[in-house]
Amino acid sequence: MNDVKKFISVAVDSIKNQVGSNKAIMALSGGVDSSTAAELAHLSIGKNLIPVYIDTGLMRENETEEIKKLFEHMEGFRVVYAEEIFFKSLSGLTDPEEKRKAIGKTFIREFEKVASETSAKYLIQGTIFPDKIESKGGIKSHHNVGGLPEIFEFDGIVEPLCDLYKDEVRAVANELGLPRSISERMPFPGPGLSVRIVGEVTQENVSVVRAANSIVESELKDYAPWQAFAAIIGKATGVKGDKRVHGWIISIRSIDSRDGMTARAQEIDWDVLQRIQSRIIGSLPSVTRVVYDLTHKPPGTIEYE
Ligand code: XMP
Repeated sequence: MNDVKKFISVAVDSIKNQVGSNKAIMALSGGVDSSTAAELAHLSIGKNLIPVYIDTGLMRENETEEIKKLFEHMEGFRVVYAEEIFFKSLSGLTDPEEKRKAIGKTFIREFEKVASETSAKYLIQGTIFPDKIESKGGIKSHHNVGGLPEIFEFDGIVEPLCDLYKDEVRAVANELGLPRSISERMPFPGPGLSVRIVGEVTQENVSVVRAANSIVESELKDYAPWQAFAAIIGKATGVKGDKRVHGWIISIRSIDSRDGMTARAQEIDWDVLQRIQSRIIGSLPSVTRVVYDLTHKPPGTIEYE
């Protein structure tokens, strides 16, 4: 993409051509990709756009409230509270691909319900270029690409950002006047905290990883990471109070990247790492270890699943 203004005008026309006078649902996650796609789609089809945010129960702390504040002004915006259905669909699953597919399937079924209520014919998604490459290359199925069931009830899926990298999406977001809190926001994966829990996802471990994540994000702000987060990577024995506890191991990840395709683990000061460790261990009784992930991408991926 050489010319941001031109990209916007072509994308707006192209959405209009694909969707026509039909209604379209915008799958909104609150991240920069889907917010930018929503803004383009809003410019293109106006009130035929139905922005839908699904609360999967796998979101970051305060995410739903923040997203509500940001998108409430768009006519037709709705929040679907689907936490119970998502947890049910993940119950008993430990394989990363099965977890992604279960989430993809639940997402699309929830969107279909809204579609049938609103007679929307199209689904608009914020898929970007790296999502497509990684899904095609068999690295994994991004929930909004390869994780979708093959049969779905929409006439079509529209992906206005599917040829862009993240930094290009940010340029489009800035040109469209989106607030910096959105355009410069750390990327957050569609399947949410589920890819930050190695193994089975439960309400209990999601609440642990969510709280740890919030500590990591706030403590590492000054390093301006491309992405920084906490993940549960297993269990280990520790001593808390005077008891031996078989608790969670939290891994801290903080990386620099241009587009998520490659990444470098950041060098973080020891006292900052120690403060994070102490806040996490001190506030979360079921956590016994905190480790820092030194792995670059490749060979690691950014997320854990
Ligand atoms: P990985 O883990 O593949 O992550 O190195 C690269 C970037 O993509 C994000 N990510 C996802 N985003 N759906 C998304 O929308 C997904 O299924 C997904 N998996 C990973 C990840 O947070 C990182 O920014």
